[in-house]
Amino acid sequence: MSHSEGTDWAGEKGRITKELIARSVPDLPSRYVHLCGPVSLMEAVKKELTELGVPSERVKTEVFGPALGKPVPEPAAVTPPQTPPAGTPVALPTVSFARSHKAAPLPPDKTVLDAADAVGVPIDNSCRVGTCGLCRVKLLSGTVTMAVEDGLEPGDKEKNIVLACQAKAAADVSVEA
Ligand code: FES
Repeated sequence: MSHSEGTDWAGEKGRITKELIARSVPDLPSRYVHLCGPVSLMEAVKKELTELGVPSERVKTEVFGPALGKPVPEPAAVTPPQTPPAGTPVALPTVSFARSHKAAPLPPDKTVLDAADAVGVPIDNSCRVGTCGLCRVKLLSGTVTMAVEDGLEPGDKEKNIVLACQAKAAADVSVEA
């Protein structure tokens, strides 16, 4: 629980620590552990479990996102811009995917993840509602707005990390994907 302010949460606060696990689970090395959550959480907890003596074969994980080797879906059509009144210039923002050397139109009602899907740029994702954090990507240029930011990690904003499933823009942007 990292954002308990303003809630009636009365349980443990902060990240899952070795001390919390050891205090909460008797006979830990003989237990099976089932882990599910954002990748960064699972990696941190797996390290802690190892340090607490839990054999790796007793740690089972479930990862959000596409299965390994899953083919990239066929690009879907991007919603074309509305036809403007005669004589009105309309410049639709563009999102550039730096690593993939691709770009896509970014209409105001579409997210960076929608645009990535449309041109076949793979960005891991699962919930698509801003909570799992799997779609975190680095914003290289431009500005985005995000309706939900729950999936961001502390410090992400300072590093220009955004949630692709939430990121919308009114002008050109570029992301590391
Ligand atoms: S897909 Fe879960 S936060 Fe974006």
